Amino acid sequence: MYKILKVEQLNPVVLLMVVEAKRVAKSCLPGQFIIVKLDEKGERVPLTICDYDREAGTVTIVFQPVGASTQKFAKLQAGDYFMDFVGPLGRPSDLCEESIEELKKKKILFVAGGVGTAPVYPQVKWLHEHGVEADVIVGAKTKDLVILEKEMEAVAGNLYITTDDGSYGRHGMVTKVIDDLVAEGKVYDHCVAIGPMIMMKFCCLTTKKHGIPTIVSMNPVMVDGTGMCGACRLTVGNEIKFACVDGPEFDGHLVNFDEAMKRSQMYKTAEGRAVLKQKEGDTHHGGCGNCGGDE
Ligand code: NAD
Ligand code: FES
Repeated sequence: MYKILKVEQLNPVVLLMVVEAKRVAKSCLPGQFIIVKLDEKGERVPLTICDYDREAGTVTIVFQPVGASTQKFAKLQAGDYFMDFVGPLGRPSDLCEESIEELKKKKILFVAGGVGTAPVYPQVKWLHEHGVEADVIVGAKTKDLVILEKEMEAVAGNLYITTDDGSYGRHGMVTKVIDDLVAEGKVYDHCVAIGPMIMMKFCCLTTKKHGIPTIVSMNPVMVDGTGMCGACRLTVGNEIKFACVDGPEFDGHLVNFDEAMKRSQMYKTAEGRAVLKQKEGDTHHGGCGNCGGDE
């Protein structure tokens, strides 16, 4: 059992929880995710790691209650428990594998959209702790929906907040800020964009125009997070990938977002899943040993 130590409402729709999970905290890295299960009958819910404290043995998760399971999570309070808290899963961010000296030579830009600010934060924090200062754009629909501003300010080189309605910070979507920063003379060698799929798609079109290699996190298409359900199947370049086992991070300029968004919508209904099965066969990544997906 995994004890919830703290619950905080970050904005009207997003919650933060600090969970006691010593083993995950000991080995997790930015970019990875965990799978949470509330009780015996609970659904497995993959959530990105927002922060971790190796000494305290805690992991911080941030989520927006949307489905039945996350709505149940939202009713939990400090002192309650999750039955399972499994991880770390997925590959850590590529940045964690590069040499610090090489990273220090790079001009890195992070683009965080809405709830996607949560998985961006540990990457920026990790870089800051290793002496690398990255610029960060945080976009939200309106002022009330901006999250983790103080935390991000403490670790970012420059922080640019923007709201779609102009109620706080700059006015406009994150893609406008990318264009504006480049027009202001900023030069970037690397971009990491994390947020809703439509945002990541348009960020990639924008950074492609400016010649900035871009990594995206395909967490939004994950369902079971184990390689078994096939929901997170993607086309990246000419290859078929699964976000939960091959990612969640990919070269955004190679991801077929239109296909991923369409597939993700279809996966939500039994009829859509049946159509996908007919088209793709048993599409999971393999491992169950009885459906032929391993062949
Ligand atoms: P949102 O819809 O409020 O969008 C956040 C920002 O993204 C906007 O303020 C805007 O700046 C930008 N954006 C949105 N549409 C855009 C477009 N067409 N062009 C350019 N920029 C655009 O975000 P939200 O409601 O907080 O997002 C929730 C979604 O984020 C969920 O679907 C969830 O799956 C996803 N999410 C993704 C990750 C990830 O790892 N990629 C993590 C958490 C949440
Ligand atoms: Fe189910 Fe990846 S989330 S296969």
